[in-house]
Amino acid sequence: MAADIVYLNGEFMPLAEARIPVLDRGFIFGDGVYEVVPVYSRHPFRLGEHLRRLQYSLDAIRLSNPLRDEEWTKLISEIIARNSGDDQAVYFQVTRGAAPRAHEFPAVVKPTVFMMSNAMKTPPREQVEQGVACITASDLRWLKCDIKSVSLLGNCLAKQLAVDAGAVEVVMFRDGYLTEASASNVFVVRDGVLLTPPKNHLILPGITYDVVLELAAANKIPCAVREVSEQEVKTAQEIWVTSSTKEVLAVTTLDGRAVGSGKPGAVFRRMHALYQEFKQTVMRRAA
Ligand SMILES: Cc1ncc(COP(=O)(O)O)c(C=O)c1O
Repeated sequence: MAADIVYLNGEFMPLAEARIPVLDRGFIFGDGVYEVVPVYSRHPFRLGEHLRRLQYSLDAIRLSNPLRDEEWTKLISEIIARNSGDDQAVYFQVTRGAAPRAHEFPAVVKPTVFMMSNAMKTPPREQVEQGVACITASDLRWLKCDIKSVSLLGNCLAKQLAVDAGAVEVVMFRDGYLTEASASNVFVVRDGVLLTPPKNHLILPGITYDVVLELAAANKIPCAVREVSEQEVKTAQEIWVTSSTKEVLAVTTLDGRAVGSGKPGAVFRRMHALYQEFKQTVMRRAA
């Protein structure tokens, strides 16, 4: 099977042959949105939810959806089939398309639709068992973090701070309250209660965030969705980051200091097991 087959504006082709015009507004202005769907055993996980979030992002930037959900679903199946590996991360993005450079939206323009599949890299066993290091920083991004925009400079700058410090993620605060990490949502455990900030314009409404809250509710893990102060994060017994590719990962040091015992906590271990079990059940049903 050929490797790295991508989809661009109606055609499948090798990645190395995919070309877009330099005046594409995604390139010039970051004027576009995207999604990443995890694929396990060749089945997309929570695809309906990812397509709903794509629609939300498109509506937020006033770009009409170039494809119906059935068309997206078919394309995603096709890209999975054309690429190797049972577990994949399917990335798809829509930009406003190519037009002479001007900030305002062009009157007539055809959106650019791009899709690719990467090998799915869930955290290695060692990270799951030992947890990971994170640092903290001020959230310097814009006020529309609920849009899954390709304008990711704020997130890239934040992530690089973490990498420079030998950490995996950066936990961010705005006005003294937790928002999220550069490419994940954040949960903390205090006195046995799972806490996470509410979905609003300051965070991306994570698909994994929803799964974690559903699993907590279904398994009677006490949880509260509310503002979480910086102080509460820094003195929490457990901190987790969640995303489609990281799944649920324990943070065991924050700014070089141990979180709780310095080992992944009991609530994390329970949630990690529940998440793996849930994934398996969903995939078995899809098979
Ligand atoms: C900024 C940000 N927050 C949260 C998430 C987690 O979202 P999801 O669980 O849908 O992958 C991501 C995922 O890439 C992200 O980039």
